[in-house]
Amino acid sequence: MAATWTEMFPPSPTWTEADMKDQYGRVFLVTGGTAGIGYETAKMIYHLNGTIYITSRSESSASKATEPIKSSSPHPSQTIPSGRGTISYVQLNLSDLSTIKGSAEEFLRREKRLDVIIHNAGVMLPADPEEKTEQGYHLQLGINVLAPFLLQHFLTPLLLSTASLPDTRSFSTRVIWVSSSGHRASPVPDGVSWDDLDLLQASKTGLKKEVERYGQSKAMGVMLAYEFARRYHEHGKGILSFSLHPGALKTGLQDNLPRWFNAIFGWLRHDARMGALTECWAGIREVNVESGEGGMPGDGKVGKNGGYVVPWGRWGDGHESVMKGLMERRTGERLWGVLEKMVGDYM
Ligand SMILES: NC(=O)c1ccc[n+]([C@@H]2O[C@H](COP(=O)([O-])OP(=O)(O)OC[C@H]3O[C@@H](n4cnc5c(N)ncnc54)[C@H](OP(=O)(O)O)[C@@H]3O)[C@@H](O)[C@H]2O)c1
Repeated sequence: MAATWTEMFPPSPTWTEADMKDQYGRVFLVTGGTAGIGYETAKMIYHLNGTIYITSRSESSASKATEPIKSSSPHPSQTIPSGRGTISYVQLNLSDLSTIKGSAEEFLRREKRLDVIIHNAGVMLPADPEEKTEQGYHLQLGINVLAPFLLQHFLTPLLLSTASLPDTRSFSTRVIWVSSSGHRASPVPDGVSWDDLDLLQASKTGLKKEVERYGQSKAMGVMLAYEFARRYHEHGKGILSFSLHPGALKTGLQDNLPRWFNAIFGWLRHDARMGALTECWAGIREVNVESGEGGMPGDGKVGKNGGYVVPWGRWGDGHESVMKGLMERRTGERLWGVLEKMVGDYM
C-alpha cells in the first residue's frame, strides 16, 4: 500500500525553528547524522545549544559533517540565541552486530546522561540486493532493525536514569524510531513475516521483494516505538517513544531507486531540512501534558505515546493492520522476543 495523502502532500509546517526551545545541557544521539535528514537534525539541535553526538562508519565522513555544522549559522527564524552547542561523533557500523556493544560503551564512557536518541541511520533498496551484514542478514533487516535494537538495549539503562534526574522535565526523555510511509508495503497482516524474517521464501521477486523488505524493516520501527513505550512509559518522569515518517526528501537514500521512479516522483521531494523538522517535532517539542498527550493510547484516552508522526510534525496513523496487531495481537511484544533471540549472542 502506498503512502497516505497526508504523508505525500503535507501542509506547511506549523512548528519550526522559531518555536524550538533551548536544549542546553541536554544530550542527544542521532545515528547517521553525517548526511541527509540526520545531518539537518544534528545541525538544528547544535544551534539550539544541545550536546549532540552523530554516528558514522568512518571518521572522515563524520568530520565532513561536524565541521560544516560548526561553521554554519542557525536558521534565520530561530529565536533563541545560539553558540553553546557541541557536536562530536561515535563510530558505529550497523552492518556488524559484534561492534555495537563497543560503540555503545564508547558513548557511555563519554556521557552521564542521554535525553533523546534518534534511530535515524538506515538504508533502502541496497545497490546489491544480495549484500548481507557480517552476520548474514539482508542489509535492510540488519541495518534498519537488528543493530538499532541492540544499540538501544545497551543505552536504555542510561536513558532510564536520565528520565529520573532532578533537572529532567516530564516527558522530555525520548526514543525516536525513524520509520517511513514505506512501512505500508510490509507483509500483511502484522507487518512482519514471522516465519521468514529475511523474506527468503516470499512470493515476490526483484524490486517488489526489496520494497517489501524495506517495508517490513520500517513496520518493525513502528512496532518497536509502540513496544518500547509500553514497557518504559512510566519510568522516571515519563519516557516517550515515537516512530515517524520524515517526509519525501532529497537525500542519498533514493540513489538505488529505478531512474524512471525518480523521474516521475522526484518533484515530490523536499529539502532534507523539512525531515529534520519532523524529527525535532517528535524529539524535542513539549507535549501537552494537560491533554494527556504523553500517556499511552487505549480506553478512549488521548495518549499518543508509542504513536506515529507524519511530516512536518503532526500526529498520524500507522498502517491499520500493523496498529491493530500491536493493540489486539501483542505483536510488539512478540517482535521484541524474536529480536532478542536474534541479537542475543551480542548482548
Ligand atoms: N529520504 C527520504 O525521503 C526518507 C523517507 C522516509 C524515511 N526515510 C528514513 O530516514 C532515515 C534517514 O534517511 P536519509 O534519507 O537521511 O538517508 P541518507 O542520506 O542515505 O543517510 C543515511 C545515513 O545512514 C548512515 N548509514 C548507512 N549505512 C550505515 C551502516 N551500515 N552503519 C551505520 N550507519 C549507516 C550513513 O552514515 P555513514 O555513511 O556516514 O556511515 C548516513 O549518515 C532512514 O532511516 C530512512 O529510511 C527517509
